[in-house]
Amino acid sequence: MDRTPLGIVLNGVTGRMGLRQHLIRSILAIRSDGGLPLRDGTVLWPEPVLVGRSEAKLRTLAEQHGLTDWTTDLAGALARPDVQIYFDAQVTSARVKALHAAIEAGKHIYTEKPVAESLAEAVELARKADAAGIKHGVVQDKLFLPGLQKLHRLVRGGFFGRVLSVRGEFGYWVFEGDWQGAQRPSWNYRSADGGGITLDMFPHWHYVLEQIFGPVNTVTARSVTHIDRRWDESGEPYAATADDAVYGLFELEGGVIAQINSSWAVRVNRDELVEFQVDGTHGSAVAGLHHCRIQPRAGTPKPVWDPDVPTAQRFREQWQEVPDNEVFVNGFRAQWEQFLRYVAEDGPYTGDLWAGARGVQVAELGLQSSREGRRLEIPGLGR
Ligand SMILES: NC(=O)c1ccc[n+]([C@@H]2O[C@H](COP(=O)([O-])OP(=O)(O)OC[C@H]3O[C@@H](n4cnc5c(N)ncnc54)[C@H](O)[C@@H]3O)[C@@H](O)[C@H]2O)c1
Repeated sequence: MDRTPLGIVLNGVTGRMGLRQHLIRSILAIRSDGGLPLRDGTVLWPEPVLVGRSEAKLRTLAEQHGLTDWTTDLAGALARPDVQIYFDAQVTSARVKALHAAIEAGKHIYTEKPVAESLAEAVELARKADAAGIKHGVVQDKLFLPGLQKLHRLVRGGFFGRVLSVRGEFGYWVFEGDWQGAQRPSWNYRSADGGGITLDMFPHWHYVLEQIFGPVNTVTARSVTHIDRRWDESGEPYAATADDAVYGLFELEGGVIAQINSSWAVRVNRDELVEFQVDGTHGSAVAGLHHCRIQPRAGTPKPVWDPDVPTAQRFREQWQEVPDNEVFVNGFRAQWEQFLRYVAEDGPYTGDLWAGARGVQVAELGLQSSREGRRLEIPGLGR
């Protein structure tokens, strides 16, 4: 079968997301399955060019995965004619500069979120990418989670009747790093280094709400730093200046109210690390990463408030599991495949740099709402 190579610069592959989700579970997984079959019968063969700051780390990583193409010279990699796509999974604060360089080199762009730390920078990138005529995409992995795919299916099938509200709970305890090592990189907890849970998670919640339930019109948020001292990768204490929890309220087109708590300072008493409860006139659902459970209108119990009698109802057992009915592949890989098809054969694609900019906008307005203690309208973005 004809194999068409497609050069992809992968920048930030020594990091958590770049290595595990993008290199191993997406690009290398596509290669080990024989490449990506296209409509015309040919096969697209991704050729990764690993880019990073440390020669030693890149060499080791390349060797571990049987790869030979790596460099610390980003400009040189971007100048190569066999490279068509630039992908960025660097720390957030390093992203904007690299994306500008890639657009100037005429490469298509695929990037982790948030695309920038400010709306102005995100919009500038989107405009510049459009003017350059390149294709662009931003990671929207949560949409590809099996639980959320099933939730989306319920919405499309009219299960809920009129959707009334969405309650999201995201989070877990991120260790401070003193008596047990932290399970997330320390830059996430320093605002000067692009950290903060509002900037990290609001872009996710924005595309989840927008694509599953409709446009998001307003945001009200309270961002806080619950734990203000942490210990970094080398065991040194530092001031945790970034927000580690955000309590957000969003109003959507059609009157849907979404309330989402995000926290790295919460202990899990849920079935999954993220869960959304959706209540509608005809039924409700609780969706997490993998599972989705429903309670239809006709199966709704009628509890009566009585503080004197312990309840005999086992409410959580009254819900019904939604079947998979399909095979869900890793969400990062599914979106990579969509983006590669978009580049190679103009396949359908929605999460572009403008969608990424709207995510940054909601984060920025969320932080402003928190500072000023008020609800803010989310204006449309002028192209
Ligand atoms: N889609 C998701 O679910 C998801 C989840 C976590 C993180 N992210 C995003 O992915 C990006 C990377 O996050 P991560 O958790 O993999 O981070 P990480 O710290 O594990 O990796 C960061 C990468 O950036 C590189 N880098 C480049 N310049 C740097 C600098 N000046 N300082 C430090 N590192 C630098 C590092 O070498 C490393 O390869 C972030 O933008 C983050 O918001 C997305």
